[in-house]
Amino acid sequence: MFNRRKFITQSAVAGAAALLVPGEVWSAPFQEDHIQPLENNPIVISTWDFGIAANAAAWEVLRNNGRALDAVEKGVHVPEADVKNQSVGYGGLPDRDGKVTLDACIMDEFGNCGSVAALQHIMHPISVARKVMEKTPHVMLVGDGALQFALEQGFKRTNLLTAEAEKAWKEWLKKAEYKPVINIENKNFSPRKLPGNEYNHDTIGMLAMDAKGNLSGACTTSGMAYKMHGRVGDSPIIGAGLYVDNEIGGATSTGVGEEVIRNVGSFLVVELMRQGYPPEEACKEAVMRIIKKKPETAKEIQVGFLALNKKGQYGAYAIQKGFSFAVCNKESQDTLIKGKSYY
Ligand code: GLY
Repeated sequence: MFNRRKFITQSAVAGAAALLVPGEVWSAPFQEDHIQPLENNPIVISTWDFGIAANAAAWEVLRNNGRALDAVEKGVHVPEADVKNQSVGYGGLPDRDGKVTLDACIMDEFGNCGSVAALQHIMHPISVARKVMEKTPHVMLVGDGALQFALEQGFKRTNLLTAEAEKAWKEWLKKAEYKPVINIENKNFSPRKLPGNEYNHDTIGMLAMDAKGNLSGACTTSGMAYKMHGRVGDSPIIGAGLYVDNEIGGATSTGVGEEVIRNVGSFLVVELMRQGYPPEEACKEAVMRIIKKKPETAKEIQVGFLALNKKGQYGAYAIQKGFSFAVCNKESQDTLIKGKSYY
């Protein structure tokens, strides 16, 4: 439920803030109520049903009192290396020229972030993104520059185009219809597919809070199948595919990246949580912005947001049915939840 009390308080805060002398620092009282680090209660959540296996790897880090940043990196390595996963990393469907190009970003509890886009030949783009964050003064490297950097950092050059993905691309080439597919039907993919879940194949976005109450996030994808060479979606864009504010919470997205970028979706979700929205309501509002701006487009596409706040509360919302997310904490390590949706 949308928290009306917080909004009433916020209006009062806005009024009080207007009385401030320029330069005076003032902190909103409602935020003390809202921002409560939840120590010793680690949690990791991630998009889609492949999030179950990814969460399990992240949990190994979290349950051993590891850092959320390490957890999300280790977690998303699982789908990145999964040959059966055709929308992330190795085995991902190529662009229309037959090239597998990967997008990924990562963000830590200090607001540090790193990103790579249109990266080829590297199995774990998320780890290259982390190196960009930790070893360069930059946030984002793209294309050949990202590859060159990865190789310099010791990453191994790998052929990411599997025989299965190549076969699917060659099949697509017969018509070569330029209609990028975002939710690719692949009935055999998931061991834990929810009933009625026909949209379970896209970006993995992962958010974690460690035992110290610190937050981090990661997002990684091979992007739209058969996209134009050079097309970059939301996943490596900080604020679009992922955003983490350690005082408030984190958010990540999946689906048609262009609509997420246009609305700076993940940043929006975090800012809504700052205003007092619970995670699911924040995700819903971000989805509604997309629908309101382009109602006809929205009927045909999927976008989903997933959010975790500083209290350890989580929620999700999508345009279309079929969005699932995985939750892992002390109580249960393999919860799969059907996200609510507009349609
Ligand atoms: N959300 C993945 C993409 O649009 O590339």
